[in-house]
Amino acid sequence: MAPEPPCLLEPRWPWECAPGLAVAVMDVRRQPLSEMLAALGEALPERVAGAAAKRRTDYAAGRLCARQTLVRLTGVAAVPGMETDGRPVWPAGLCGSISHGAGRAVAVAALAARYSGLGVDVEEVFSPARARELEDLILTADERRRLADREPTLVATAAFSLKESLFKALNPLTGAQFFHEDAELTCLADGCAQLRLLRALSPSWPAGAVVPGRYRISENRLFSLITIPRADARTDDRP
Ligand SMILES: CC(C)(COP(=O)(O)OP(=O)(O)OC[C@H]1O[C@@H](n2cnc3c(N)ncnc32)[C@H](O)[C@@H]1OP(=O)(O)O)[C@@H](O)C(=O)NCCC(=O)NCCS
Repeated sequence: MAPEPPCLLEPRWPWECAPGLAVAVMDVRRQPLSEMLAALGEALPERVAGAAAKRRTDYAAGRLCARQTLVRLTGVAAVPGMETDGRPVWPAGLCGSISHGAGRAVAVAALAARYSGLGVDVEEVFSPARARELEDLILTADERRRLADREPTLVATAAFSLKESLFKALNPLTGAQFFHEDAELTCLADGCAQLRLLRALSPSWPAGAVVPGRYRISENRLFSLITIPRADARTDDRP
């Protein structure tokens, strides 16, 4: 079994509440790239191997986190592969998601018998200027109206992050490309959120489909999570 990387943070934080989910979070800045690559112990995919040090660091940290989630779930130290479109490829019978940003890498994974899709994301909380700059891209007019009484930097960061997590959960299931205007936040409170699709992604994911999400802020970072439990899961429509 692979040893835990030394910079791995509390393994269950921040989503103790999602049953059957394994989570690993790493402080990317606390370990040099050479040590991360040695801990990973396998060659980087071709498209990452020639990339800048930051990209290789993020990739290695994300994969070390992913490996820890798989160890916890199955006891086997597997590292997800990478599809040509960038999707991580999880071992048979498992699903998961990876994100890196704001000095953190995070991975979530679960048994495919329990969840058909997962999406995770981490972002630094936007400054007021950045929130103003991005809100037209991230938020629909209805979202802005609905969430007008909430703190604007929280709304913009959470909407951005939750929509990225939604994409990571649903793109592998549907094969559909979709963007921030194709989903809206209908609710955002106390770490819980709800998103609604504004257009059909596949026969099983019509316009109006509702997906719950979670978010958590820690040290000016916002983590978001989308889970698609198997009981709610529609068919895998990927062509
Ligand atoms: C794919 C995307 C979501 C990645 O997000 P990001 O903020 O750039 O980067 P993150 O660090 O959070 O996530 C990167 C990880 O996403 C994962 N990923 C990439 N493509 C993916 C896909 N199609 N499906 C699921 N996960 C994917 C990978 O594991 C990647 O890490 P890795 O390359 O080290 O393996 C983003 O680049 C993108 O294409 N966004 C446009 C689509 C979108 O967000 N729409 C909003 C829908 S409402």
